[in-house]
Amino acid sequence: MRGRVSVARTSLGPMSTGSSPSTTPFPDTERLSRVGLRAELDGAVLTVTLDRPQRRNSQTPGQWHALGDLGASVPDEVRVVVVRGEGATFSAGLDTRLLGPDGVPGEDSVHDLMRGDDQHVLDTIDAYQRGFTWLGDPRFVSVAQVRGHAIGAGFQLALACDLRVVAEDALFCMKEPALGLVPDLAGTKPLVELVGYSRALEICATARFLGAEEARHLGLATAVVPGDDLEATTADLVEALLSSDAGAVRETKALLQSAGSLGLEEQRLRERQAQLRRFRALTARG
Ligand code: CAA
Repeated sequence: MRGRVSVARTSLGPMSTGSSPSTTPFPDTERLSRVGLRAELDGAVLTVTLDRPQRRNSQTPGQWHALGDLGASVPDEVRVVVVRGEGATFSAGLDTRLLGPDGVPGEDSVHDLMRGDDQHVLDTIDAYQRGFTWLGDPRFVSVAQVRGHAIGAGFQLALACDLRVVAEDALFCMKEPALGLVPDLAGTKPLVELVGYSRALEICATARFLGAEEARHLGLATAVVPGDDLEATTADLVEALLSSDAGAVRETKALLQSAGSLGLEEQRLRERQAQLRRFRALTARG
């Protein structure tokens, strides 16, 4: 096993690091804590933890807004983002109380949302989705560390990450259609890209549970390990990701993201342009 990355660990307070190009201030610890989140910066690694284990890390709009703000303010030195859940469950998805008339104190319920016009609802969901899509930013590689259930919004959060390290007890479920909803937190595209249209439809339309082995077989899980090894395996993967050149990994992630949608001519043009930037960067280093 490789040695651990050893850099000073800091809990993020009201800050924005000097070298970050971001103009959005990092959400402070108190705000994150209020919505059941933690963020820890450890050198080039940002670890984001869903921290409502008493509610099985179920998710709320306040959390999605905070995640979106966090994503918009990630310091430039961050090369890997790990997303995990506190306790035995990655995430039980949407806090289902939000679907009922009583909602969740301090949070907008679906009933509250329905008081607005259609454009307001569409804009609000757009803002929710930003809590997920930032994990595709080519500046870093995102890794979901999944233990136990990843249901609905929890499954979509895992799908928003580039890689998924999965414990043997993991269970994924796209529960939305069973509740009369669709997966709307940017999860449909990565699901289809990973497992193909037909299997994605079967998984969503049946809202069935997929275990870790099936997730590996389908290409959803990057690795499946015993629960006791989950942290160490994630740390090893993070170390391996950090061992490659930062600029090359960023350029490569961007290239791989465009590879599926661009034609060969456009894609190989992008490869040439990216390599030119790499040559320039490497020769400038001497
Ligand atoms: N929302 C709110 N509270 C939840 C919750 C959720 N999604 N999931 C669990 N909880 C709460 C339970 O109500 C319970 O609270 P109390 O202790 O106050 O009774 C506590 O967390 C523990 O729950 P369980 O006893 O059920 O825990 P478990 O470990 O036995 O089971 C579970 C875990 C399989 C995840 C089960 O809790 C479960 O099925 N939860 C509901 C999952 C669900 O339907 N999520 C919605 C997905 S759809 C979605 O996410 C919509 C979207 O994106 C648009």
